[in-house]
Amino acid sequence: MIFYFTGTGNSLWVAKALSEALGEPLISIADELHKEKKDLIYQVRPDEKILFVYPVHSWGPAVPVTRFISRLTLNGYAGQPVCSVSTCGDECGYTDRLIGKALGKRAISLTAAYSVIMPNNYILLPGFDVDDKEVEERKLQEAPVRVAGIIDAIREHRPDALYHTGSMPGLKSYWIYPLFAHLAIGSNSFRVTDACVSCGLCERICPTGTISMQAGKPVWADTCVQCVACIHRCPVRAIEYGKGTQKKGRYHHPEIK
Ligand SMILES: Cc1cc2nc3c(=O)[nH]c(=O)nc-3n(C[C@H](O)[C@H](O)[C@H](O)COP(=O)(O)O)c2cc1C
Repeated sequence: MIFYFTGTGNSLWVAKALSEALGEPLISIADELHKEKKDLIYQVRPDEKILFVYPVHSWGPAVPVTRFISRLTLNGYAGQPVCSVSTCGDECGYTDRLIGKALGKRAISLTAAYSVIMPNNYILLPGFDVDDKEVEERKLQEAPVRVAGIIDAIREHRPDALYHTGSMPGLKSYWIYPLFAHLAIGSNSFRVTDACVSCGLCERICPTGTISMQAGKPVWADTCVQCVACIHRCPVRAIEYGKGTQKKGRYHHPEIK
C-alpha cells in the first residue's frame, strides 16, 4: 500500500515506479483527505509493505502528509515494514524523524527512510528558483538508479543509508519547518494574470481544493498548502506569486500529465 502526495509530479513518478516494482497499490493522500469521515482506516495484509511517498517541504514532510497520518488507522498492522520515501530538491533535514514521530503517535513504527533528489520546484521566496536545465536533466537521469536502489533495499528489508539529511538539519527541521507549517500554510499570494484562458486546469489539479473558478478565473481560498502545482502546471503561465515569480522558471515532471 503506497500512500502518496505530490504537487508537481516528482513524488507521483517515484510512487508509480515503487508501485510497479513492489506490486503495491497507490492511494492518493489528497483524495483521501477530501473524505469527510474523521478516521481514515485501511486494512493491511500480513505481507503488506506500507510506504509513504511525498515531497519535502521546508525540511519536513509536506503538511497534508502529517495531517493524513494524524487520522490514520491501519487495521491488521502487526509490525509490517513501513517506509518513508521523500523527494527533495537538495536535502531533507530530519524529515525522516518528523514522519517517524507522526507515525509513532498512531502506534505505527517507521522501519526505514529513503530519499530521492529530484528537480527543485520551490520558487515562491526570493532567492529560490527551479534548477538550470542541465541540473534538471541530470537529476531526472539519476533518479531511476536511486529508485532502483531503494526498491532493492525495501525488498531486502535493508534500512540503508539512502537518505540525504544535508546541513544543519536540527535548525532547519526543528525550527524553520514549524514556522513554515504555522505561517506559510493557509495564506498565499497567488494571483492570476490576463493571460488566463479559463481552462480550469488549476482548479482540477489543486490537491486541497483551494482553487475555485469564479467568473472564469481562479480564486484561492485560505487552505493552500503551497504544493505549487498551480503555478507550475498552468499551460499559459498565467499564475504568479506576488511579484517575485515573473522571471522564474516553471517545472513539472515530464512524464506526469
Ligand atoms: C513549499 C516547498 C518547500 C520545499 N522545501 C524543500 C526543502 O526543504 N528541501 C529540498 O531539498 N527541497 C524542497 N522543496 C523542493 C521539493 O521537495 C522537490 O522539488 C520535490 O521533489 C517536489 O515534489 P512533487 O513534484 O511531488 O511536488 C520544496 C518545495 C516546496 C513547494
